[in-house]
Order: sequence, then C-alpha cells, then structure tokens
Amino acid sequence: MIEGLGLTGDEHVLEIGTGVGFQTALLARLSHDVVSIDMWPDLVQQARRNLARNGVDNVELLLGDGSGGVPEHAPYDAVVVSAAFPEVPPPLIGQLEHGGRLVQPIGPGGREEVVLFRRTTTGLERQEVLTPASFVRLRGRYGFTS
Ligand SMILES: C[S@@+](CC[C@H](N)C(=O)[O-])C[C@H]1O[C@@H](n2cnc3c(N)ncnc32)[C@H](O)[C@@H]1O
Repeated sequence: MIEGLGLTGDEHVLEIGTGVGFQTALLARLSHDVVSIDMWPDLVQQARRNLARNGVDNVELLLGDGSGGVPEHAPYDAVVVSAAFPEVPPPLIGQLEHGGRLVQPIGPGGREEVVLFRRTTTGLERQEVLTPASFVRLRGRYGFTS
C-alpha cells in the first residue's frame, strides 16, 4: 500500500486507521509528515507510545472517526485508508491535492482489492489494483455504520 503512494519524501500524508502505528512509522520515514487517525483510544495510546519509543516526531496522531478524513489538516498529497469499504468515502476526494494518490482496500471487509486512485481535475480516477487483501471494515459516518 505504501509503495503505491509513490512517496518521494516531501508529502503531507493522511493515514486513516493507525492501528499500533507500524505503517504510520514507515509513512513518517518516507514523507514530510503524517496525520494519522484511529477511532479506538487504546490503539491510539499504544501507537503514541510506539512512535515515541522509536523517535518518530513528524506524526500528528488523532483519536476519532476518520471515515470523513481530517479536513482541518487538508489538503493531502497522499491518503492511505487502512480499512475496507466498497467505495472511497466522498469527503476524502476533496481533501486530496490534484495529482495526489489514494490507496484503499475496496470491498466489504475480509475480501478486498487494494486499489490505487489518483485525483484529477474532474474527480478521482481509478488507476490499478495493487493486490488482493483481507482487511477489517472501515467504520464511522462514511463507512459501515453497524
Ligand atoms: C488493519 S488496521 C490498521 C493497521 C495499521 N495501519 C498498521 O499497519 O499497523 C485498521 C484500523 O482501522 C481503524 N478504523 C476503522 N474504521 C475507522 C475510522 N472510521 N476511523 C479511524 N480508524 C478506523 C481500526 O480501528 C483499525 O485500527
């Protein structure tokens, strides 16, 4: 998923679904800075400890529903959605820079295709399937509500 973002080191990145922060740390190393959000307090706490322990200091870690993105820190050069939903939540499109890349597992949860999208002048263009995968569901307002 990270490879699909084509990071060069200068990007402002949004990660939705921090988990324990492993992918967050990789994104932080490969970009300028990362905004990462997860909706479970215990995971955010654990990720905060893991990132601090490893000296990662270019991550803004947030607790909350990221299914609608984090508009207050937008626009982003790259967005990675680390949970599955059948479509890209519409608010994320407007938070992506023109030419920016977005990677998301597209599917019902448990049986996905990780898809790379690119923001164009007219919207979001599906580029390619990166890999089959099995992800947890994206919850929240623009995700699965139950
Ligand atoms: C597969 S895990 C992420 C793993 C993590 N990126 C890593 O590599 O270690 C998916 C995460 O998405 C989070 N998640 C699901 N729906 C979310 C939402 N609406 N907003 C924020 N996080 C969400 C879950 O709590 C879970 O931690």
